Amino acid sequence: EKGRYEHFMLKEINEQPYIMMKIADTIEYYKKFSERLESALKSGSLSIVAAGTSMHAGLIGKFYLSTLAGFGSDVIIASEFPEWSRHIANGDVILAISQSGETADVLEAVRIARDRGAKVFSIVNVPGSTLTRLSDEYVFIQAGPEVGVAATKTFTAQVASLYVISSLISDPTSSEDLREKLLSISNSILKDMGRVDEESRKIAGLLKSREHVFFLGRGVNYPTALEGALKLKEISYIHAEGYAAGEYKHGPLALIEEGVPVIALIPKERSLINKIIYNLMEVKARGSFTVTIQPPDVSLPSDRRLVVDVEDELTSPLIYAIPLQLIAYYTALELGRNPDKPRNLAKSVTVE
Ligand code: M6R
Repeated sequence: EKGRYEHFMLKEINEQPYIMMKIADTIEYYKKFSERLESALKSGSLSIVAAGTSMHAGLIGKFYLSTLAGFGSDVIIASEFPEWSRHIANGDVILAISQSGETADVLEAVRIARDRGAKVFSIVNVPGSTLTRLSDEYVFIQAGPEVGVAATKTFTAQVASLYVISSLISDPTSSEDLREKLLSISNSILKDMGRVDEESRKIAGLLKSREHVFFLGRGVNYPTALEGALKLKEISYIHAEGYAAGEYKHGPLALIEEGVPVIALIPKERSLINKIIYNLMEVKARGSFTVTIQPPDVSLPSDRRLVVDVEDELTSPLIYAIPLQLIAYYTALELGRNPDKPRNLAKSVTVE
C-alpha cells in the first residue's frame, strides 16, 4: 500500500530512516555472519558479485572492508562473472548482494563459484529467495518489500548492513557505538527530510530540460555518484553518468558545454575538499551548471547548494543517497514519467 504517498518510490525513500533504526536495533543479528565471513576470508580471496544498484552498494562494501576491516576485495559485475572469475578456486569467498535474491546473473555467478569450491556469503532482502538457498551463509537487510522498480531503501539498507558487518569484523565489541551512530544518522535524516525533499524538487525543476547530467564523487562517494546517475537515467530517461571526480578530466570533460549540469558530492573530510573544489572550478570554467550536495560550513563555488548533515565520511553515502533519489523522482514527475514503472525495466531481472 502506498498510503499517503503518490508513488511507491516516494514512500520507500521516506522509509529509509526507519530501516536504519531497525538495523541499529539489530546489530547483534549481523554478528554471526561477520564472524563467519572474517574466518572464511583468512583462507581465500574475496569477490563481491552483484548487479545494478546492488553492485554500487558492493563497491561501497569494498571500501568499508578495506578501510575498516583491512580486507582487499574485487567487485565483479554479475553478468561478467563467468569471464572474469577464472582465478576463483577452492577456499575463495564470494559475497553476493541482491535485493530480490532472484537476479539470474547473480545466481549463475554463485553456481559457477560453488562448482569451483568457493564459499558463498550473501546479503539479501527477500526472505526465501533462491539466493539464500544457494548460499553457505546469508543475512537479510531488513528493508521490507520494495515495489518501485528503482531500488532506493534497499540500497541504503545494503550499505548500512555492509557498514555494520565491516565494523564488526574490525571490532566485534563495537555494537553499541554502531547502534548510536546509525540512530543518530536516522534522526538527522528525519529532521531534514522535509527540507531536502523541497530542495531536491527545485533542483529537479532545473534538470528536466537538460540532455545530459553528470554526477561526481570521490572515495566512498564515487559509487554514490554512480548510483545517482543510475537513478536519474532509469526513471527520467535523461542521459546521466557518474564519475570519480578525478577521472572526469581524462575524457568526459570534453562533454561539458554551457548549461550542462554537474552534481558533485562534497566530501566531509577536509583533505578531500580542496581536490573537489578544483574539479568543480574546471567544469564551471567551461560553462557547466554546478550543484553541490554538501556538509554545512563549506563554502564552494557552486551555482546551487543542497546542505545535508553529514556525520562522517564513511557513512555519508547513507545521507547523500536520499537527495539523489529525490532528484531522480521529481525529475521523472516533471517529465510526466511513472517513476514506479520505468519503461523496458522489470523489478527483478530473471534472464541472463
Ligand atoms: O534484485 P537485485 O538487487 O539483484 O537487482 C539488481 C538490479 O537489477 C537492480 O538493482 C536494478 O539496477 C535497479 N532497478 C536499480 O534501481
